[in-house]
Amino acid sequence: MESVGGRVTLCNARGVTPTLAVVLVGEDPASEVYVRNKGKKAAQLGIATRDHRLPDATTTEALLAVVATLNADPEVDGILVQLPLPGHVDEQAVLLAVDPAKDVDGFHPANLGRLVIGSPVFIPCTPQGCMLLLESAGVDPAGKRALVIGRSTIVGKPVAQLLVAAHATVTIAHSRTVDLPAEVARAEIVIAAVGRPRFVQGEWLAQGATVIDVGINRLPTGKLCGDVAFDSARERVGAITPVPGGVGPMTIACLMGNVVLAAERRAKIV
Ligand code: GUN
Repeated sequence: MESVGGRVTLCNARGVTPTLAVVLVGEDPASEVYVRNKGKKAAQLGIATRDHRLPDATTTEALLAVVATLNADPEVDGILVQLPLPGHVDEQAVLLAVDPAKDVDGFHPANLGRLVIGSPVFIPCTPQGCMLLLESAGVDPAGKRALVIGRSTIVGKPVAQLLVAAHATVTIAHSRTVDLPAEVARAEIVIAAVGRPRFVQGEWLAQGATVIDVGINRLPTGKLCGDVAFDSARERVGAITPVPGGVGPMTIACLMGNVVLAAERRAKIV
């Protein structure tokens, strides 16, 4: 398959510059880092970015007006509203307002629904990155017991759908799961997306399991760590992703792929 850079060149030949609009509300430090990394990667690939930085006090109505302007702008291919939004903003209303054809995060119900029925267009970036990491590790989910820890709309639910589509037997664990260590012990593939530092203990894992750690947590020392206790886990597992440097860069790569897909659709390449 053509690389993302090559696909950008093909768009350019049709007079289209793939363009991503990023909307960041407030000053969440983690979001600032994500948005900066997205901007850097886009620049490397020839994808244009337009940053819309709005104050923390921005109302739902004001944010909806920004989204409406971006929806109507023919040069904007992808719209990314960085989450989390401040508590007073109606997040559902904002995600629903994004034109599904520009929804490069894949969070609009139209895109999540397409994923469930097996006819996806924009697949959420972190779940897509998890699947590519499994593929690159040579792990085929077909017939395997996969455990997803966490039931968020951004990661847990969509990655579970992708694993089912790839023929895994999938369990979703969450805060009310009664015996998490027993669920982890049974799993051949573990996707950890809980947002709690070193929550999954290495001793819980089955010998030879494949572990994808989606968590990015900051310890009081300032150091970043995942949801899985890496040092004890690596003794047992077949493969495990590091934090930082594992899922994060894959998420950004998948976002760039989605922006280029939106541009290819505008350029009538696909
Ligand atoms: N916040 C954390 N991850 C994501 C993501 O993939 N997309 C958006 N929009 N916000 C996020």
